[in-house]
Amino acid sequence: MNTYNIGVISGDGIGPEVISEGLKVLQAVASLEGFKYELVEYPYSGEYYLRSKELLPDRVIDEWRGLDAILLGAIGHPDVEPGLVERSVILGLRFGLDLYINLRPIKLYSPHLCPIKDKGVEEIDFVVVRENTEGLYSQIGGIHKKGTPDEVATVTGVYTYKGVERVIRYAYELASSRPRAQEGARRLTLVDKANAVRPQDIWTRIFAQVGEDFPGVEQDHAYVDACTMWMVKNPEWFDVIVTTNLFGDIITDLGAILQGGMGVAASGNIHPGKTSMFEPIHGSAPKYAGKNVASPIGAILAVSMMLDYLGEQNGAERIEQSVTRLLSSGEIPSLDAKSGISTSQMGDKVLEKILDTS
Ligand code: IPM
Ligand code: MG
Repeated sequence: MNTYNIGVISGDGIGPEVISEGLKVLQAVASLEGFKYELVEYPYSGEYYLRSKELLPDRVIDEWRGLDAILLGAIGHPDVEPGLVERSVILGLRFGLDLYINLRPIKLYSPHLCPIKDKGVEEIDFVVVRENTEGLYSQIGGIHKKGTPDEVATVTGVYTYKGVERVIRYAYELASSRPRAQEGARRLTLVDKANAVRPQDIWTRIFAQVGEDFPGVEQDHAYVDACTMWMVKNPEWFDVIVTTNLFGDIITDLGAILQGGMGVAASGNIHPGKTSMFEPIHGSAPKYAGKNVASPIGAILAVSMMLDYLGEQNGAERIEQSVTRLLSSGEIPSLDAKSGISTSQMGDKVLEKILDTS
């Protein structure tokens, strides 16, 4: 029997509430599928920083290399300087463990959750592969003469051959193996802004070059501004998107809304073959913290993505199918904090569906 070592960072705000529902589901699936796991909890968060003044220590990153996966709730506290703990913990994990893929499925589970008219589950089913270790997130830059009339702020967008090649190759592999919801060719869309930001030409060239190894995948391209328009107007055109770190961050919030809101979107921060991290894409939502109103579906789907990564495909599918059945049952009016269904009730409802299939 497989035993997995899973690190858990519940984090701030609604993080602990949604993670506890995710873990409830994990426990049920483990006993149905017959695998074991051990949880190792870590306190790193804004809340912990306020108490201890400790950010994420380097030795902990080394310890994490020995885990199979990490599950993260949300990081961000209103009383801490914006971004300080997010950079330390989230970017610390992504950069420290070299998690170069940020995999963000945009999938609509029930038509009533979609804000766009005439678009349903057939039309909204694609995956964004966001580069996760470079770009404008490089932290290279700074502020000079701060607070003076001569102040200068700079940031360097970093695109290395190695970094761009590996994420594009992963995206082609995904595009060539993914079952298509739409009829027609398998398609990979490169999203960039290489017309205005010329160094992004490195993406254009590597995209064409790696594409030669994947003759079965149609090569497509959109500038990021146009991409946001097509995502709303013709989301069915997309199958797999590959893009830079910042553009991937931006378009996946839009993607989350297409699939019913931040309450449903999940992601995997992956380095194939190494310790990878899974998280809902929403933030810590401090105003809902402790109120038992946030949707745990994003966290539950993050558990599904984690199981898929660990090789527990049956468990992963069991969760996703149960979420699909629940969301399309008519019981769930929406996935926002005003749905009238509490965090723990939602977790229980997913659990019911899971047990129902066993
Ligand atoms: C995300 C978040 C993070 C990001 C923040 C919290 C640093 O928005 O995971 O999408 O920008 O990547
Ligand atoms: Mg984001």
